[in-house]
Amino acid sequence: MSDRPVKIAPSILAADFACFGAECRAAEAQGADWIHVDVMDGHFVPNISFGPAVAKALRPHIGGVMDVHLMIAPVDPYIEAFADAGADYLSAHVEAGPHVHRTMQAIRGAGMKAGVALNPGTPAEAVLPLLDDVDLVVVMTVNPGFGGQRFLHGQLGKIAAIRAAIGDRPVHLEVDGGVDPSTAGAVAAAGADVLVAGSAVFGKGSADAPEGYGAAIRAIREAAAGR
Ligand code: DX5
Ligand code: ZN
Repeated sequence: MSDRPVKIAPSILAADFACFGAECRAAEAQGADWIHVDVMDGHFVPNISFGPAVAKALRPHIGGVMDVHLMIAPVDPYIEAFADAGADYLSAHVEAGPHVHRTMQAIRGAGMKAGVALNPGTPAEAVLPLLDDVDLVVVMTVNPGFGGQRFLHGQLGKIAAIRAAIGDRPVHLEVDGGVDPSTAGAVAAAGADVLVAGSAVFGKGSADAPEGYGAAIRAIREAAAGR
């Protein structure tokens, strides 16, 4: 298990798209640590969600960390737009282009924390040369593009390998996809300290009746703590 306090980051991909502001406020009021914002372009992944204008509109409704996960290619032409939107963390996929290190530099240069994400088919080694130049590593435990998919247990070894490689660096290790109370324990035991959960949280209520969000967040947190 990670010795860091685990953060729970509900993904608004599973929220009601017609009331994102209320959904973000409800999730935070129910104990969310970060809000995870999934941006998809219909090209890098086979689905389209929303872009920087929606992220900017959300910003006043998020009191804490806005964690933006880009599933787009190319990335670099949009970095400034997400900085302007107020993203705290901006993550790009290592598979999204040939110059991921340059992308990390550009994200930091724009004043944001830089994250690098890996698809399930990409080995841990792909991010090792970047660890001194990122603030977050995102290990996908589903193929990106859709919420509500089954957790890929074969990724646990990769999570542990990246945690070991991070060592003492101040780099968060986030796991994204299929995290719920039944998988959170293994994810945290492997070394993740930020757990994204979409359907496991937003599938449990609504902004008008958000108690289920709180129960889900607590259940994931308890499971991550091994209780
Ligand atoms: C998948 C997204 C995830 C997704 C997680 O492409 O990056 O953040 O919303 O959803 P669940 O938790 O339902 O797997
Ligand atoms: Zn995501």
